[in-house]
Amino acid sequence: MNDSNLSLNALEEMSRCGHERVCYHVDEETGLRALIAVHSTKLGNALGGVRRWHYANEHEALFDVLRLSEGMTWKAACAGLAMGGAKSVIMLPERGAPGTRDIAHAMGRFIDTFNGAYIGAEDVGVSPEFTDWMLEKTDHVMGGTGDGQGGDPSPHTAMGVIYGMQASLRHVGRDQFAGLTVAIQGLGSVGTYLAQFLNERGAELIVADHHDDRVQHILDTCNARGVSCEEILGVECDIMAPCALGAILDEKSIPTLKTGIICGAANNVLRDPEADAHRLSDRDILYAPDFVVNAGGLIHLAGLYLGYTLPQLEAMIARIEETTMTVFEMTKEHKTTGHAALALAKLRIEEGTAQEQVNAH
Ligand code: NAI
Repeated sequence: MNDSNLSLNALEEMSRCGHERVCYHVDEETGLRALIAVHSTKLGNALGGVRRWHYANEHEALFDVLRLSEGMTWKAACAGLAMGGAKSVIMLPERGAPGTRDIAHAMGRFIDTFNGAYIGAEDVGVSPEFTDWMLEKTDHVMGGTGDGQGGDPSPHTAMGVIYGMQASLRHVGRDQFAGLTVAIQGLGSVGTYLAQFLNERGAELIVADHHDDRVQHILDTCNARGVSCEEILGVECDIMAPCALGAILDEKSIPTLKTGIICGAANNVLRDPEADAHRLSDRDILYAPDFVVNAGGLIHLAGLYLGYTLPQLEAMIARIEETTMTVFEMTKEHKTTGHAALALAKLRIEEGTAQEQVNAH
């Protein structure tokens, strides 16, 4: 495929997904190359992480930012936020390139040109320090270490997953974690908090991570046993919580699952959202859609930006349980839980837009 075909495909993809605005910025002085994609501002300004990643080329980065920003629209709408969907990516010249203060400043200035329509936050490759540096050049970034910035969203994401699990348990006629076995794939920022919250609720844990120290910490502090990263998806458990990477459930791994419920933080866990959702339901495995149950961190940061108090934010995160129940209920009229969640997001956007029109008259 030549370059003009690739560009055409990217533009087609942009209009197919319904993006409002996509900007590419090159800052010659610092070498920053970045994309900001605003998918929708129908419900309000849009908060989404800044991802620092090494892509093979600009087109790969463009497809990633288009896909991720669209996902943020559905996530924010399902979360009941007056927020749209957006995301940005910084293209690293090589893997592991350092995030300097100058580059963070250049990204902060780029974000500022959106006048708040796009609000940046942490994502893969962005540290709290880098976030603080971006904040030196724009007010439209959340997740920094300063007062009211929200800090690390991970504990809130983990708490949202707990509510998603509670809904899943209610759906299959169970009501408590005590006596249940929960497997967690990945003990990073979210997986570690999730393990602690589940341990406090009496669940037995099976955990795996490439980092032995992270596994050891959970074995030392929780009722848990460790297995290898190759084994984790096949262990017998009541709930499987993917908290590592996306695309881990596919035609190979789904037949090996020995769980009744999938509910975790990792984004886009189904390699093929359509076929894999059917594979799960054919095996009678309940799938709690990732973008519904992993919205706790977004709710925390976006809610703070919108001026909600901490108790209000906790209540909004707790509503993930009812939203997940609604999605399961709606699945009677939709092919899969993923389709139902998308339908719920679209309904909320329609209702929100209609409400705005009423308010404007
Ligand atoms: P992280 O990078 O801190 O942790 C991921 C962990 O997974 C690492 O410890 C890594 O060693 C481990 N891992 C990677 N491959 C593995 C494998 N095959 N088996 C077992 N462990 C493996 O990431 P974080 O922040 O904890 O996020 C986890 C997932 O949740 C990611 O997919 C992220 O996109 C998603 N997410 C995170 C949010 C947050 O608030 N941090 C919000 C929403 C989604």
